[in-house]
Amino acid sequence: MKNRAAARGPRKQPAYLLHRGDALDAYQGWPTPTTMISDGAYGVRGFHGDTIGTDRIAEWYQPHVEAWSRLAGPATTLWFWNTEVGWATVHPLLVQHGWDYVQAITWDRGITHIAGNVNGKTIRRFPVVSRIKGTMRRAAPRVHNPSSLSAAHLNQKPLEFMRRMLNAVTDPGDVVWEPFGGLASASVAAVETGRFPCAAEIDHDFAEIAAQRLDDALAGRDQETEDLP
Ligand SMILES: C[S@@+](CC[C@H](N)C(=O)[O-])C[C@H]1O[C@@H](n2cnc3c(N)ncnc32)[C@H](O)[C@@H]1O
Repeated sequence: MKNRAAARGPRKQPAYLLHRGDALDAYQGWPTPTTMISDGAYGVRGFHGDTIGTDRIAEWYQPHVEAWSRLAGPATTLWFWNTEVGWATVHPLLVQHGWDYVQAITWDRGITHIAGNVNGKTIRRFPVVSRIKGTMRRAAPRVHNPSSLSAAHLNQKPLEFMRRMLNAVTDPGDVVWEPFGGLASASVAAVETGRFPCAAEIDHDFAEIAAQRLDDALAGRDQETEDLP
């Protein structure tokens, strides 16, 4: 599969890289990251290819963790998104590959982040954050009858969250890896804040939306607004 590079500035340096395919085929060609934002399998059937439970989740991450560990720098920060059980299950694999644990951050989504696919008055679970809607596609195995109000991607993260994560550990010009891009929220925030994102997304339709968002960010066009509690 191919890398897509979009240019910024008079010397046509790429402003981001987007690999439309398996991240495993992209890592080798990416520059050393200052930070990586991993938002991959959760074991909740959250996207096509997610595992059904956490039993196989370490196996799912293993080739990625091996590549990250080989290609990261000594000061690279890895942000590893997951459920508490997913993280706990993958943690020994990360430790085995030399990653030092720093801290766990719990995301209190708050009621303002009500999901795209549920009724806010009747929801009986904590909501999923989502914003882009209306692709009418089954975004994940557990989405059966997508409507125009359905989320384009069940796992789209708020840009403000991504900005905070980047600001915490990177400076302008630093390289940010987003191997499981989805709609490339981390990379959009990276473009906005002058970092250099390298993203991959294996699903063709998600990669299309990601590319559009990245181009919008590059052109300074407004992204969806999202507040964090
Ligand atoms: C949890 S979602 C990421 C959502 C993203 N953080 C956002 O804000 O939109 C995980 C994504 O990783 C993609 N994916 C899974 N395995 C992949 C792989 N080996 N290489 C590239 N993308 C992959 C899936 O298609 C899915 O869209």
